[in-house]
Amino acid sequence: MKTRVVSTGTKGGYVEEAVRWLTKGEVVALPTETVYGLAADALNPVACARIFEAKGRPLYNPLIVHLPTADWLTSLCTFPQFAQRLVEAFWPGPLTLVLPRTSMVPDIVTAGQDTVAVRISAHPVFQEIVQRLERPLAAPSANRFGRISPTRAVHVLSELNGRIPLVVDGGPCLHGIESTIVSLQEDRLFLHRNGPITREELEIFSPVEDPLGKVMTPGSLKSHYAPKTPCQFWDGAPPPSGIRTGLLAWQASGEDFTVVVHLSHRRDLREAAAKLFVSLRKLDAYGVELILVERLPKQEGLGAAIMERLTKATLASRKYFFSYG
Ligand code: TXA
Ligand code: MG
Repeated sequence: MKTRVVSTGTKGGYVEEAVRWLTKGEVVALPTETVYGLAADALNPVACARIFEAKGRPLYNPLIVHLPTADWLTSLCTFPQFAQRLVEAFWPGPLTLVLPRTSMVPDIVTAGQDTVAVRISAHPVFQEIVQRLERPLAAPSANRFGRISPTRAVHVLSELNGRIPLVVDGGPCLHGIESTIVSLQEDRLFLHRNGPITREELEIFSPVEDPLGKVMTPGSLKSHYAPKTPCQFWDGAPPPSGIRTGLLAWQASGEDFTVVVHLSHRRDLREAAAKLFVSLRKLDAYGVELILVERLPKQEGLGAAIMERLTKATLASRKYFFSYG
């Protein structure tokens, strides 16, 4: 299959082309305000199966459903009154709600669970396409399973070229990290994945609890965000001698390193989140033998979301042949 990339900067046509593929039950990579998503008609199980196939994603890992409008909520799920306040405050935007599903949602989308994850994307290109289609779109991040989420169209292409018919290039994603995921159980709110909507923002509406017992977000169990290069947290010591080592830096100057990539020279958490995945990819592409990652000092707000992903990247990557730090 040949993969076409269409830019939203060029005149017209991309909405119709995306809608045409989606109507045929195909998958299309689309920009969202968080990361690029690999979208398919959420009510068409065969189309959704293509998402799993293209990503190499195991079927036990459920998909997020992106709604054209909030009216769809009542068709796809049941929700406590209190969900309404979160919807009003944060939608469209990077907050995903896990709610009890109805039978309209195909089993493949929920991996057989009795809940479904839903959100409305705030990205104007995504919105236009999903509203024109007039059907919800299932869309996980548009990377191969276990790899770093794509924040630019070239990242999507580097992982899925030849496996999908179309990538809509809407430029770099605003937030650069995936949506915050919460589940609502009666009047309790559980935070499953940190993201652009912070714990502190959610606490304005409700006490925020950590998930009970077994982790409910299957994707959060597995290794994620794996760079190809071994990747570990840095303990502040000089890099090992004779080994080309890259530093993903927060505030260190990293003089002794082969290459240093700063998340944000201004130490601005929004900028750091937006540059997180592109920075990991840059270090991977540089051809160093080891990537060391400086910890963020404060883990509040977006800092928690960034550290959650960095921790997974270090856990998911191959280990260097000797233990460092
Ligand atoms: O920002 C985002 O959320 C992006 C864009 C494309 O919307 N999507 C995204 O999807 O990050 P994905 O599939 O890479 O991550 C979704 C996570 C997975 O860890 C999955 O296990 C979890 O959401 N999830 C989906 N449905 C769920 C459910 N019913 N219960 C619990 N977790 C669920
Ligand atoms: Mg993902």
